[in-house]
Amino acid sequence: MTTATTNSPAKPHFLMCRPEHFSVIYSINPWMNPGGWAREQASLAASSHRQWARLHRTLLDLGADVDLVPPVDGLPDLVFTANAAVVLDRKVLLARFRHPERQAEEAHFEAAFRRLQAHGAVDSVTRMPDGITLEGAGDCVFDQARGLFWMGHGPRTDQRARPIVADLFATDVVALELADPRFYHMDTALCPLTGGELLYIPGAFTDIGRAAIAARVAPEQRIAVDEKDAVRLAANTVCVGDVLVMPACSPRLRAILTERGYRVEVNPLPAFLRSGGAAFCLTLRLDRRSGSVGAEQDDAAVA
Ligand code: ARG
Repeated sequence: MTTATTNSPAKPHFLMCRPEHFSVIYSINPWMNPGGWAREQASLAASSHRQWARLHRTLLDLGADVDLVPPVDGLPDLVFTANAAVVLDRKVLLARFRHPERQAEEAHFEAAFRRLQAHGAVDSVTRMPDGITLEGAGDCVFDQARGLFWMGHGPRTDQRARPIVADLFATDVVALELADPRFYHMDTALCPLTGGELLYIPGAFTDIGRAAIAARVAPEQRIAVDEKDAVRLAANTVCVGDVLVMPACSPRLRAILTERGYRVEVNPLPAFLRSGGAAFCLTLRLDRRSGSVGAEQDDAAVA
């Protein structure tokens, strides 16, 4: 792993993993079709490398530091580092995966975080208690504007993870049950923007979940992602200040976001969509702070 030693507090810092061993060899969500992948393996592998490299370059060009987890043969989904852990205020809560296909990733992610800890990039690394799943930032997304975590549960993450996250990070955690198997990780369906807007797929949540969102996000701050954008995983966006790095964005959605002062950078990731993942899934933000000062200066509200 390459480790950035001089990570200034205002610099975004991400964890990623090169797609050297990325492929679709099992199916744990409705997007994954191993037979379809196998038929086009060579070209899909090559295009996944190009698509990932562009995302990596975009983040570097936006001024971010990126640390890399070494890829591991036989662990194709290790590339989705959002699932590695929940990270806030230099504390790391390691993921516990639901499916046996991904459980072998846990030790590799733990080793990566122990190295980050040794280099001073994070302070503590905590394991989940046995028997409770939590698939990292894939299901637990920090909303900087509201100072809370949105936590999706059902397909992957256990609802019982909620108090564990709340206790460790001393923050509110709003649990939202996921209702559509296509949006099995919450980060495929919800993205808080730095100016306080919430990009989300209403149909991915239950009535109770939509009510919980409505109770916390004013109507003018809710940006509904329609079906066309939803199935291209447009909500799986990486926000760096007022720049939104998106796997897709229709003219309609782009107009809404531009009007609000955001700059949309589309980085198509079709090879990764075949695994059910996109931009946010391929990254993990390491420098999030719960307070409004310090690491999140780059994330100041869009003026
Ligand atoms: N194939 C992976 C899985 O099903 C995709 C994970 C995408 N990651 C995410 N944070 N949504 O687990």
